[in-house]
Amino acid sequence: EKGTYPHYMLKEIDEQPTVIRKIIQAYEQGEDVTVDADILKALAEADRLYIIAAGTSYHAGLIGKQYFEKIAGIPVEVHISSEFGYNMPLLSKKPLFIFISQSGETADSRQVLVKIKELGYKSLTVTNVQGSTLSREADYTLLLHAGPEIAVASTKAYVAQVAVLAVAAYAVAKETGVALDFDLKQELAIVANGIQTIIDSKDEMEQIAEDYLKIARNAFFIGRNMDFCVSLEGALKLKEISYIQAEGFAGGELKHGTIALIEEGTPVFALATQKDVALNIRGNVKEVVARGANACIIAMEGMEEEGDCLVLAPVHELLTPLVSVVPLQLISYYAALHRRCDVDKPRNLAKSVTVE
Ligand code: F6R
Repeated sequence: EKGTYPHYMLKEIDEQPTVIRKIIQAYEQGEDVTVDADILKALAEADRLYIIAAGTSYHAGLIGKQYFEKIAGIPVEVHISSEFGYNMPLLSKKPLFIFISQSGETADSRQVLVKIKELGYKSLTVTNVQGSTLSREADYTLLLHAGPEIAVASTKAYVAQVAVLAVAAYAVAKETGVALDFDLKQELAIVANGIQTIIDSKDEMEQIAEDYLKIARNAFFIGRNMDFCVSLEGALKLKEISYIQAEGFAGGELKHGTIALIEEGTPVFALATQKDVALNIRGNVKEVVARGANACIIAMEGMEEEGDCLVLAPVHELLTPLVSVVPLQLISYYAALHRRCDVDKPRNLAKSVTVE
């Protein structure tokens, strides 16, 4: 039920702090967050993880890769499910396949699951829907606990996917004796509050949508490191619901061709949440501004500069995607609203894609 909300999408964006708290509860064990012992064992025994997903879930997978590699030290490949069938990589000796799917019904992903099962490999599905096809057919399941997601554009499920992947990576790191210098349960609680702060200042996002996207024909999203992954998701959100052509880029990549598209007034959203690349992304912003771009910088507190559009409450550096995606969701929402688009049911799209 969307209750007093004009759209499911807005309701689902608003639910994100609660979703993070639900995930903490669902995965908590004593002072820690962790996953079931059989899943821990499967993750710990794998010499490489293969994440398979589509669309927004693929974008969550890109962050998941960083979690498993940086927190747990397990190598990861992330593949678009529709490409995997004919572009199957050379597999490691002990692969574990991780399917990320909000619906658990995406045909492209299922096709890969069927194939790797034939080959005798183990699989884990990360999904919002218990009893879904991908959940039933995989060896293990991790649930997102996001509650039903009705709007076609995925918001709370993305945040839940990223959070659950963090929990899994953290848990396997503990299991395998990796020294960890942060407490994930605590850090996720801080994230929930950080998201709430953004949600409480929706007016600012509405104003940004008005200022930057009112007459835009296209828009770019740039970031480096984790911010790059979030840029891809920001661009997908904007294009699918507002029909503004949008692209996400690695900060350093725009100048290798696409910068030719920057004209007077072209909106460029830049994320600056990653300390080690702060100077570089600022440099990229200067490059596009020099060509006339209308740059909107979203920075993490402590890294902001004068003239930035939005400053996000600080969270653990690995968890920034959970927070930085939220203003991008809201900006997309308001841009779509200003254009009188059907926010919850964009044209040509279905909530779960059951054809290949
Ligand atoms: C974008 C969106 C789609 C889905 C994709 C995969 O907002 O919703 O890109 O993420 O179709 O769907 P699931 O996660 O159900 O496999």
